[in-house]
Amino acid sequence: MNLACIDHPLENQARDPWICVLSSLGFILLLKHTLSFLRWVHSSFLRTPKDLVEYGPWALVTGCTDGIGKAFAFNLAQRGLNLILVSRNHEKLKTVSTEIETSFPSIETRIVAVDFSKDPSSCVRSIEEVIRGLDIGVLINNVGVSYPGACFFHEVDEPVWREIVRVNVEGTAMVTRTVVPGMVLRRRGAVVSVGSGAAIVVPSHPLFAIYAATKAFIDQLSRSLHVEYKLHGVDFQCQVPLYVATRMASKVASIESKSMFVPSPDEYVRAAINHIGYEPRCTPYWAHSLQWCFARFVPNRVLDAWRLSIGLKRREKNINTSP
Ligand SMILES: NC(=O)c1ccc[n+]([C@@H]2O[C@H](COP(=O)([O-])OP(=O)(O)OC[C@H]3O[C@@H](n4cnc5c(N)ncnc54)[C@H](OP(=O)(O)O)[C@@H]3O)[C@@H](O)[C@H]2O)c1
Repeated sequence: MNLACIDHPLENQARDPWICVLSSLGFILLLKHTLSFLRWVHSSFLRTPKDLVEYGPWALVTGCTDGIGKAFAFNLAQRGLNLILVSRNHEKLKTVSTEIETSFPSIETRIVAVDFSKDPSSCVRSIEEVIRGLDIGVLINNVGVSYPGACFFHEVDEPVWREIVRVNVEGTAMVTRTVVPGMVLRRRGAVVSVGSGAAIVVPSHPLFAIYAATKAFIDQLSRSLHVEYKLHGVDFQCQVPLYVATRMASKVASIESKSMFVPSPDEYVRAAINHIGYEPRCTPYWAHSLQWCFARFVPNRVLDAWRLSIGLKRREKNINTSP
């Protein structure tokens, strides 16, 4: 038998250009996903957090008397930062300030009681007076409000949606505008704005449309400022939490306790602080980023239908329980 006449199957394959192209593409795809996974492991668990005091000795936190903002205030104090505490209730501010100064005796705090839903310009004037002459290195734009309950766009009373826009959009933009000039002068600073998975992880957030739209504003503002102010040494970042066990989550989603995918504010903020100064947008808590990753594999139509059914159920429940 003439063996030279028999084609080896592997040689045939090697000669087929399509097989080469497809296997190369497969390899590139595998490499891309492996690198993304390794980057995620590194940023979530291994990366050295920035020394936040190097941005400056003071931090300003808005919406700091409860939930995520309060946890930010305590964790920043633990990292050695003095604090400007901004929220609307003077008594609660005094309590948080005393708790922080008792737990961390070397930390100084100042309080500013302002209600961003009233007149953001006068809030900003009050903040300006308190921060004059202080070297603010870190700003946490945390304050945010949502609907009293799920409802269609046309059912939201004008005062309610105006309040959401004032607090989430104007409050965030104006406090940033007040603090950033000092950072630019000193050529250092970190500005974290708290966005939401409602605007970024899911393609829509039906029955909470205005809230989600204000969070999309925060995301785009923050990502654009990240590019603008890199030149001036200021690190902007939009952090994107999914559910965190706070008063807001209890109100809008009836979440009353923490679980694997719903961290406590302190667990969330420990992860959030480790991300400051790195990427322009992040989902700091590891279980939230897993959820985001799963969501990428689900078609938008399916996610839309799922969010709508949840919104409708919550609306129904509100109607049935309201007096
Ligand atoms: N919790 C979640 O599941 C979740 C998910 C995604 C994004 N977020 C975002 O995370 C941020 C914090 O949410 P959270 O759940 O921690 O909220 P929260 O528990 O309701 O706390 C909100 C804080 O903001 C203050 N605040 C509310 N309205 C204000 C106003 N008009 N003027 C000044 N301060 C005001 C509150 O002060 P008082 O104590 O006086 O009320 C409180 O300190 C928000 O931007 C929210 O959109 C939360």
